[in-house]
Amino acid sequence: MLLKGKTALVTGGGSGMGKAISKLFNKEGAQVAIVDLNQEAAEWTAKECGTAVLPIQANVAAEEEVERAVNQTVKHFGGVDIVVNSAGVPMAFTPVEEVSIEQWQRTMEVNCTSIFLTAKYTVPFMKQKNSGAILNICSIAGVRARPGLNAYCASKGAAIMLTKALAIELAPYRIRVNGINPGPADTPMLSKFLHGDEEQIQRDTKEIFLSSVPLGSLIQPEDIAEAALYLCSDQAKIVTGEIVNVDGGRGI
Ligand SMILES: NC(=O)c1ccc[n+]([C@@H]2O[C@H](COP(=O)([O-])OP(=O)(O)OC[C@H]3O[C@@H](n4cnc5c(N)ncnc54)[C@H](O)[C@@H]3O)[C@@H](O)[C@H]2O)c1
Repeated sequence: MLLKGKTALVTGGGSGMGKAISKLFNKEGAQVAIVDLNQEAAEWTAKECGTAVLPIQANVAAEEEVERAVNQTVKHFGGVDIVVNSAGVPMAFTPVEEVSIEQWQRTMEVNCTSIFLTAKYTVPFMKQKNSGAILNICSIAGVRARPGLNAYCASKGAAIMLTKALAIELAPYRIRVNGINPGPADTPMLSKFLHGDEEQIQRDTKEIFLSSVPLGSLIQPEDIAEAALYLCSDQAKIVTGEIVNVDGGRGI
């Protein structure tokens, strides 16, 4: 029970890594606010957890919705000790001249601005306790570029730097801020990086993603959850500003 007595707010908790993190954190004793754009998905994750979970529908790119989600969490559980930013959007390989400004902005807002917003509204509660842990699910694409992933790579590179900027700013309050760079992961998001029909996507997943992982398999959401548990628990009490690649060696 590494998180006994803690309250965690997990964005993107309705699917993939956020779902696996919500379930593991709850199993390890945390009360969990499961925040997702998709209400049904958040509720589904809540059903798969034990007790002490709160599904919340919110868009993490909208300031007033983040503020509402944080206030709901604090009202329901009495505080917030841990934030995991897992909500994100992919982009299918697109030449830069074909990327619309709307796609660029949405990618930056969901993948990076959301980290600023959850920090803005949860840090005051963490400062009151002089402790806290923030974990940002970034991406190996934030340090190793791929052609046609321009906006996605930029958003994740920004997320990595924001993680470090927050870590140095919040260290005097003993609020730790870390990141994980997943490699290609076996979640509903993976196929959305690709174009084409089902058969093409299956072939490209193997050729593009699987072949890029030295350990030879896609990353499972549970692999990310295990690393998240370490970074958000007191086992990592002296770790901050760190970005851990959980990527099967893709980042080497
Ligand atoms: N899957 C991969 O290969 C991979 C690799 C590296 C990094 N990542 C990153 O890991 C994180 C988790 O990805 P995943 O693979 O679990 O994806 P996923 O698509 O399975 O889950 C993402 C969740 O985020 C939610 N979401 C999207 N936009 C939102 C918004 N505006 N507000 C609230 N919720 C929103 C979705 O509804 C969904 O439930 C993302 O940040 C992603 O960029 C994924």
